[in-house]
Amino acid sequence: MIIAIDGPAGSGKSTVSKMVAEKLGILYVDTGAMYRAITLKAVNMHLDLKDADRLIEITKNSDIKLLHDKDKGFSVLLDGKDVSKEIRTPELTNKVKFIAGVPGVREEMVKIQRKIARSGQGAVLEGRDIGTIVFPDADRKIYLNADFKERVKRRHKELVEGGQKIDYAAIKADVDRRDRNDMERKVAPLKKADDAIEIDTTKLTIEETVEKILSCIK
Ligand code: CDP
Repeated sequence: MIIAIDGPAGSGKSTVSKMVAEKLGILYVDTGAMYRAITLKAVNMHLDLKDADRLIEITKNSDIKLLHDKDKGFSVLLDGKDVSKEIRTPELTNKVKFIAGVPGVREEMVKIQRKIARSGQGAVLEGRDIGTIVFPDADRKIYLNADFKERVKRRHKELVEGGQKIDYAAIKADVDRRDRNDMERKVAPLKKADDAIEIDTTKLTIEETVEKILSCIK
């Protein structure tokens, strides 16, 4: 069983997707974490983020693993190193667009994502292009959305709780910029697949959203 969950930043995708995967006893695949990991690698190697060929090359030569440990939760390994924290800083987040905009990088990512998703009993994949590109024939497609103000509030809370010191206005500008970048890019833009079920999570709790998704699946 393949469940595709797409939507913009702060729509609740990550939290909700993990819970849905757990309830169904299938894999959870955070595709954003994979784009973030390659961005981190490129930054650490001081690469020119506009050098598409080099970005494709490092993507092909990277080992990205998404791990799940009952006690430690989910983590992201890049070439054997745990980068779960480093990939979530606002500085890094703002650079992902360079990597996510390269068609050759995306082709490699999609191959890895399909392979991971097919390695178990099923998977919940979350991202921007899951229902449109990665699994256009997914068993269920969900498009999560929420009002801009609510999404900014959630993202701010998440970063503050994660120990990062960020002001609200900066987060607001970041979410706005990222929305536009993701929706307007040429390759695999964020959009609702025609056959996706759209859920507005603005006034829903996490549990209510999970319930709604599960009721679409059963
Ligand atoms: O958690 P949040 O929604 O803020 O972001 P994410 O899912 O970790 O994704 C980070 C960035 O990676 C997005 O803003 C997209 O530019 C890119 N991305 C993508 O292009 N395609 C995907 N399937 C997932 C993420």
